[in-house]
Amino acid sequence: MWKKCSALQISRGKRFGMMPLSDRGISSEEKIQKVFERRADWYDNFLTRTVGHFELKRVLRFVPGRSDVLDFGCGTGRTTLGLLKKGFTVTAFDFSPAMLEKARSRILKAGFSAEFITEEKALVGRTWPLIVCVGVLDYYREPSGLLQKICPLLQPDGTLIFTVPNARSPLAWIYSLASLRSLPVYPRSIPEMKIVLHHALLDIISYDFAFPPLSFFGLTLIFCARKIPP
Ligand SMILES: C[S@@+](CC[C@H](N)C(=O)[O-])C[C@H]1O[C@@H](n2cnc3c(N)ncnc32)[C@H](O)[C@@H]1O
Repeated sequence: MWKKCSALQISRGKRFGMMPLSDRGISSEEKIQKVFERRADWYDNFLTRTVGHFELKRVLRFVPGRSDVLDFGCGTGRTTLGLLKKGFTVTAFDFSPAMLEKARSRILKAGFSAEFITEEKALVGRTWPLIVCVGVLDYYREPSGLLQKICPLLQPDGTLIFTVPNARSPLAWIYSLASLRSLPVYPRSIPEMKIVLHHALLDIISYDFAFPPLSFFGLTLIFCARKIPP
């Protein structure tokens, strides 16, 4: 397993080397934020709408009852809207003001309301019984940092639902290759995520696949996790 991980690190390092020169030296979060600021105007296109539609259908199968929910990395609000339609009270957070603005107008246009936050410090000290994080961890070479940030926002018995590209899926590797010149995405396996989650003091409750919902082809791997009790 560890041998596998280090080989993976090397290939990821090479990919990292393909970053545009102007973006070298900035942290991965800054780079991701910068890219999504630029993507906001064309993020909702045929491809993202189609994949997002099937992904959201599977993600919503995991969400329990009706409660408050934090949509972490809400983007243009696709998941936010899905949750609002199911009766959830949603806090939509995204560090890209341009993406958040798109989410705000989508939600208002659909006749719903939500709390919109773009400053991370506005989340500090608050907790949610449910956090969803769809299509966000894809861009993090080291996902544990972000998971460790999300974990304190989760109530002790809360549920975290998140997605990553599925390392067993050829579609996910095509997606990863296509992303190399812009913002690399990193397919993950279930054993790798088990280790990452454990470091963030989270336990996997269940998982599923989307687009299509098959373990070997599904582009997206969906996890449902809980905090490990102290
Ligand atoms: C691919 S979009 C997914 C949007 C949405 N969740 C969906 O399913 O359509 C990823 C979003 O995550 C946001 N994001 C990435 N890292 C983040 C972070 N650390 N804090 C807040 N937002 C983040 C980006 O700005 C971007 O809008």
